[in-house]
Amino acid sequence: MNSLVQDAAAAGARVGLKSDEIVIRGGKPLIGRIEVRGAKNLATKAMVAALLGDTPSILRDVPDISDVNVVRGLLSIHGVRITDPARGEMILDPSNVESAHFAEIDAHAGSSRIPILFCGPLLHRLGEAFIPDLGGCRIGDRPIDFHLDALRAFGAVVDKNYNGIHLTAPNGLKGAEIELPYPSVGATEQVLLTAVLAEGVTELRNAAIEPEIMDLIAILQKMGAIVNVEPNRVIFIEGVKSLRGYTHRAINDRNEAASWAAAALATKGDIFVEGAKQQDLMTFLNVFRKVGGEFDVHEDGIRFYHPGGELKPVVIETDVHPGFMTDWQQPLVVALTQAHGVSIVHETVYENRFQFTEALNDMGAQIVVHKDGLKGAERRVARREFEQAAVITGPTPLHGADIRVPDLRGGFSHLIAALTAEGESKISNVGIIARGYEHFVAKLRKLGADFDFAG
Ligand code: EPZ
Repeated sequence: MNSLVQDAAAAGARVGLKSDEIVIRGGKPLIGRIEVRGAKNLATKAMVAALLGDTPSILRDVPDISDVNVVRGLLSIHGVRITDPARGEMILDPSNVESAHFAEIDAHAGSSRIPILFCGPLLHRLGEAFIPDLGGCRIGDRPIDFHLDALRAFGAVVDKNYNGIHLTAPNGLKGAEIELPYPSVGATEQVLLTAVLAEGVTELRNAAIEPEIMDLIAILQKMGAIVNVEPNRVIFIEGVKSLRGYTHRAINDRNEAASWAAAALATKGDIFVEGAKQQDLMTFLNVFRKVGGEFDVHEDGIRFYHPGGELKPVVIETDVHPGFMTDWQQPLVVALTQAHGVSIVHETVYENRFQFTEALNDMGAQIVVHKDGLKGAERRVARREFEQAAVITGPTPLHGADIRVPDLRGGFSHLIAALTAEGESKISNVGIIARGYEHFVAKLRKLGADFDFAG
């Protein structure tokens, strides 16, 4: 796995960032209007789904982010021709899919986890697939056991060797009964992308039902697939002989929208987030209001603002959809450092998602991370041994500091902290933020932030 600095530099370079450092002078409210477009966590999977079609696919509202360019590279080395006829519009032509050398796959994948989702489509198209050692954000071990167990259930042969995993399907792929130990987003996508062309019916239980999953199912249905979403996280997929290309506009990035909302709250600002959708953010909006933020829902977006007055502490437990999403906690924690009282954030999805709090404490926050989580009330998913909790005591004034971004959402949280703090902060590894936040520097400029960025 690359070092964090290498990842940041590579991620930044993929979207044309010339510098990996930003200097922010905080204390100014962010005010203005910005746009969020297609979701990172859907667009990258939609691009992979194009591999399943016999004809070209058209994906719209593709965000200009580093992770999209990683998938573009991986698809190109597998023979997919990609053209960009307009801003955010991508045509993916899978007519000449071919296998790629594992060293090439490894080089293109870098620290992304996306290669795991190529398995089903490549096994269908080529009868083999290869996965290098996977990376991704350093927020947990992020094993792929659910993925491999599912692929084996379809009849794939999984061969682990020193440079990765090689998969074959000597007898083709057949529908299966699969129960996920945890409603994993990635493993659900794995099953969907494999079952749609497998022989027979697949029954998937304890599936993830995030909005991005529903949008992927909409894409597969457009391609000719038969996917039934039943109550209680059960999905039935009836395999078909062939699929055609799709035309689709990606769901908007609710994680980016929630992040800018958190920035408006912490900086006492007022941001209209064009493209934010209430139905994708219901749980976030409730918590946002409970902390003391206000929002107005419009047809074309949501206005998020600090209405004045004191912020209030809350207890948050991250969860699978429709619970409070794990990707929302890091950006919101900064506002909680300014709340009057003790807030608790119980992280139940990933085992190592509080590293970012170290830098916040260096800036004057009062956050204590408890290695043992909380005995939460009745939950959608069983308690897991690695859960953690952060106890945030506020309000404490924040002051500028030199910070190194640890991961994507932690990085955005550090941007918010620097914008909220008195004085100057120097943030490095900002390339990591470009992995999932489109044109974040231009958006900061639009919102009146005071900063220097050499890139
Ligand atoms: C997706 O990751 C998102 N990433 C994550 O967003 C998001 O946090 C996560 O779903 C949960 O909503 C993308 O879509 C690219 P999981 P994914 O499989 O699919 C464990 C961001 O910031 N697990 O639902 O990797 C796993 O370790 C990123 O945009 C296994 O144990 O998440 C974790 O504890 C971060 N074995 C939990 O399940 C497996 O085989 C949830 O993982 C698979 C997962």
